[in-house]
Amino acid sequence: MEERVIIFDTTLRDGEQSPGASMNAAEKLRLATQLEKLGVDVLEAGFPAASEGDFDAVSKIAGKLKKTEVAALARTSKNDIDRAWGAIQHAAKPRIHTFLATSDIHMHYKLNMTRDQVLKTASESVKYAKSFTDNIEFSAEDASRSDRDFLCKVFETAIGAGATTINIPDTVGYAIPMEFADLVKYVIDHTPNINKAVVSVHCHNDLGLATANTLAAINNGARQAEVTINGIGERAGNTSLEEVVMSLHTRPNYLPFTSNIRTEQIFPTSRLVSMITGIMIQPNKAIVGANAFAHEAGIHQDGVLKNPMTYEIMKPDTIGLSASKLILGKHSGRHALRSHLKKMGYDLSDDELKLVFKKFKELADKKKHVVDEDLEVIITEGILRTADIFQLEYLHVTSGTTVIPMATVKLSINGRPVQGTGYGNGPIDAAYDCISKLAGTESELQRFSISAITSGTDAQGEVTVRLKENGLVALGRGADPDIITASVKAYINGLNRLEYLKANPIKATA
Ligand code: KIV
Ligand code: ZN
Repeated sequence: MEERVIIFDTTLRDGEQSPGASMNAAEKLRLATQLEKLGVDVLEAGFPAASEGDFDAVSKIAGKLKKTEVAALARTSKNDIDRAWGAIQHAAKPRIHTFLATSDIHMHYKLNMTRDQVLKTASESVKYAKSFTDNIEFSAEDASRSDRDFLCKVFETAIGAGATTINIPDTVGYAIPMEFADLVKYVIDHTPNINKAVVSVHCHNDLGLATANTLAAINNGARQAEVTINGIGERAGNTSLEEVVMSLHTRPNYLPFTSNIRTEQIFPTSRLVSMITGIMIQPNKAIVGANAFAHEAGIHQDGVLKNPMTYEIMKPDTIGLSASKLILGKHSGRHALRSHLKKMGYDLSDDELKLVFKKFKELADKKKHVVDEDLEVIITEGILRTADIFQLEYLHVTSGTTVIPMATVKLSINGRPVQGTGYGNGPIDAAYDCISKLAGTESELQRFSISAITSGTDAQGEVTVRLKENGLVALGRGADPDIITASVKAYINGLNRLEYLKANPIKATA
């Protein structure tokens, strides 16, 4: 019989450590709801000791999810574990995830601890966490560069103290598949009480091997995979959920394992993560990239038309790519909109629905068909970001071949209206000039990119920007049928994210 692999999603914790990817509590809650719909078994909601904002977001998620386990990360200190438990204690299925480095280099330079001290701390922290819940995960940070026998000793100690999952992270993305698979087998063979815990792996993608390492580990006995949507995460990212799940799905003869993931929710979830974080998906990204199912060469197209399996190893429908969407138009009523939003995972209050319906009608006047992606934009911008400091009230631009581009912008800053004028070498430059003066920002605009959300000339333009200020990086995203408005929304979103980051600094783990 096929065995099941537990899918532990850390998009909201390790994924949020991607440069610029900070999310507010409402955005995290929306993503968490979608991840539960996708069927992840465990959702790591955040690192509550890192900031009040993180605590609040984890606590809200813990209160909302009913089927999915909600994990909170903690270092081994009592304070971290107290904060983690404080944030998840009301969850239907809470899990405390504590971690401590075990490689010589980390113990010496980062922790300044001896091996004996690490063993003692691991034991004490797991026992302390165990006083709150039986569901404890212990991670040996930098496990792949740790002395193997010492690593097994640490795991034996953690399991002895009550850990129910032990996690083997390749924290710096250094391992290669044969080596990592061998490490997993070594841990299983040399940790006497290993049968009392689930063996988990957590890989980083610095050498582009995170998925390969994870699959090799599963093949050698790991039964939990720690992953993120679109593979987002610190540096080169984490193992991507969609790659692991679709590998299991597509190659059962070599990988006889199942997961609880509803594969048809993969694409909508991937799209939502990109929309909320502002991190664009590279076109050639496996499974969810725009080109993953696009056949350019004529000979391929011909084959695919005759039989899709000539060149397609997966069906687009399996990941929800071509799932038929209810298309709404300007004659669609409030009732149809509410029930469609419910299916998408939004349970809106009457006031929220009123606002979304108004924006939907405005959009439907400009665009013939309003699809799911358009509704996600309306909700992200109209509902999830309402606590923003900077809000756009009004924008007017003049530009053309014979005038100096000029923009007039009215913003509200913490509810206070301000207005100004700016000039530039184009309408976007002029609007940005005006906004930066009004906001008094010192941030530098490092990147600007523009694309279309859906196909068709009436599609909404989607703009992402990257802003940097005093070492903090924020991505901003905005969408609108008018690309100048989309650009302005993206800039303002970036400024809001910078403010959020200043108030809620992300503490890097890895
Ligand atoms: O990469 C890592 O080691 C981590 C741990 C906290 C699991 O993210
Ligand atoms: Zn990590």
